[in-house]
Amino acid sequence: MAARVVDGKAVSAKVRGEVKVRVDGLRARGVQPCLAVVLVGEDPASVVYVRNKSKAAQEVGMEAREVKLPKDAHTADVVKAVRALAHDDSVDGLLVQFPLPAQVDQRAVVDCLPPEKDVDGFTFVQAGRLLRSEPALVPCTPAGVMRLLAECDVKVAGKHAVVVGRSLLVGKPMGLLLMGANATVTTCHSRTADLPGHVGRADIVIAAIGKPEFIQGAWLREGAAVMDVGINRGDDGKLRGDVHYASAAARASWITPVPGGVGPMTIAYLLQNTVEAAAARRDKRPPSTPIPGLR
Ligand code: GUN
Repeated sequence: MAARVVDGKAVSAKVRGEVKVRVDGLRARGVQPCLAVVLVGEDPASVVYVRNKSKAAQEVGMEAREVKLPKDAHTADVVKAVRALAHDDSVDGLLVQFPLPAQVDQRAVVDCLPPEKDVDGFTFVQAGRLLRSEPALVPCTPAGVMRLLAECDVKVAGKHAVVVGRSLLVGKPMGLLLMGANATVTTCHSRTADLPGHVGRADIVIAAIGKPEFIQGAWLREGAAVMDVGINRGDDGKLRGDVHYASAAARASWITPVPGGVGPMTIAYLLQNTVEAAAARRDKRPPSTPIPGLR
């Protein structure tokens, strides 16, 4: 089977269009949604990500605020900056770009994020709500993957999904969302015995292990849908996913390219979470990322 290629850019544009309609509606009520991003240091990839997030926010009519701290900032400096934005009533969505420099205590920073502005879904409250199948701000990348599956009409209920990766950002919430959509979920990781065997039993493979071209097409069941979350920059400057694209595309039913697959969905759902946080705060209800297929 030659896979159909998932057009993440097109689906992302569709989601951003939906967000813009909601932003326009809020602005008509006199509410200006605002995303604030805290960047510590000058990690080149993070600088680009933050710039792209701000630009995308402005394109849908949001205000984008960037707070930049030097690379030698201490935990207390970052906490102070986050607390100021937490208490700023004009800020709806607040995120701290990761990774943070080694001297900064990431957990202390996350713990001072106000849950109702936590558009990454990292706080105890939002992560706990997701775990309990309650309305939550859901981490952007797994939310985007759920939307891609729905847009490609890949049925999730009753299917076997294999998630490769167990991070707070992707693997764990991805497994919860797929379970919530009635998939049978296997979570694999770097210490899993017989990874090819597990991947070979999957109807849906989510690759989020952070190793370039690690998952081989020969491992896949014929007709599996493959969502590649990996973004690995090689020494040649080229971006590669976690899946060996050419061999996987020969067996899969659907495959996401890198770049242009899952990546654009992360920003689209960041905007979705920000407009939802803005609306929910005004309506005095808990924010809830719209996820297709949840029970
Ligand atoms: N760094 C890489 N991906 C992300 C993300 O989704 N959120 C944050 N805050 N930092 C990141």
